[in-house]
Amino acid sequence: MSLITGYHHLTLSTDGVQEDYDFYTKTLGLHSVKRTVLFDGVVPVYHLYYGARNGDASTIITTFPFKKPAIYGRRGSNQSKIVQQAIPVGSCDFWVNRLNERGIAATKISRFGADRVSFKHPCGIPHELVENPGDARPSIVNEAQGIGAEHGIKGIYGAAVSVMDRAAMDDFLTIALPMTKIADTHEGLVFSVPNAGGPTSVLEVLHEPGVPQGTWTLAGGTIHHLALNTGDEANQLKLRAHIEGLGFTDISEQKDRMYFKSCYVRSPGGALFEIAWTVPGGWAKDEPADAIGTTLVFPPWFADRQAEMEAGLEPASF
Ligand SMILES: [Fe+2]
Repeated sequence: MSLITGYHHLTLSTDGVQEDYDFYTKTLGLHSVKRTVLFDGVVPVYHLYYGARNGDASTIITTFPFKKPAIYGRRGSNQSKIVQQAIPVGSCDFWVNRLNERGIAATKISRFGADRVSFKHPCGIPHELVENPGDARPSIVNEAQGIGAEHGIKGIYGAAVSVMDRAAMDDFLTIALPMTKIADTHEGLVFSVPNAGGPTSVLEVLHEPGVPQGTWTLAGGTIHHLALNTGDEANQLKLRAHIEGLGFTDISEQKDRMYFKSCYVRSPGGALFEIAWTVPGGWAKDEPADAIGTTLVFPPWFADRQAEMEAGLEPASF
C-alpha cells in the first residue's frame, strides 16, 4: 500500500498579486481558498491558495507573488517546468477559445497521448489543461465567471519537470516516493502518482540536457515545489523515514504550515518535493468553513509582525 494518495498542492512564485489573483479566479475559475503570507524568511509576501470551493487538497494551486520585493528567478532545467490541471474530456476547444479571447495565447497540443491546452501564467510559467478520462472529480464550477460543469477544471493533473539527467530522476521517483513509471518515450518519462481509487495524476519528466539550470530559490516566474498528499501524519513520517534511509538526509524536519504539516526534499532531478497532510480543521482553522479564502489571515506566531507585514504587502483588490 502506498503512503501517497495523489497531490496535495502545487506552489509557484509569480509576479504581480492582482494579475495572479485574476488569472486563477477569473480566467481559470478557481476559488480563493486561503489568503495569508509566506511563512518562511523575513520579506512580507502574500501566500495565495486557489482551488475547489471546499478547498479539496487535490485541487490546490498556491502562489507567492514576488513583484513588490522584485525577486525574480530563471526558468530552466533541473526544475519543475509546467503546472498541469485536469479538465473534462472534450473541453480543450472551450479553453483555447476562452484563453485567446482574454488575450492569453493558447494552443491545443498532445504529449504522451493526452490532448491538452498549452498557455502561460502572466508571469511566464507554462500551464497546461489536460483532458483526463481517468478523473471522476466534479468540475470546479464558477457561474460568475461563465464556467460550468462540462468545462470546469477538476483539480491537479500533475506537473512536468525538466531534467538534464533522466536516470537520476527516474531512480528518485521509482525508489524514494515511489511512483510507477507508465511511459518512456522520445518525449520523456511519465510516472503515475499513487492514488488508491482517486483520479489518475502524473509526473512528466522532460529530458532537456541543453537547457541551463533553473533557479531553486523562491523567485518570481518559477515553480517552487510539488506537494504530495500522505493523508495523515503516520504515513508522512513513514515516508520521511524511508526517504531519509535511502540517504536523502537533506529531507527537512516536519514544518507547521497551519493548515497542513510538511516535509521537503530536493530530488536529484532538481525539483523540490513536499510530502504533506491536512490537519484537523484544515482551512476552517481561522475562517468559517463556508467563507474560506475571503479574508487576510496570519498564523498565531506572526502576531507581533502582523502590522509590519500588512504594511509591506503589495496593494490589490480581492
Ligand atoms: Fe507547499
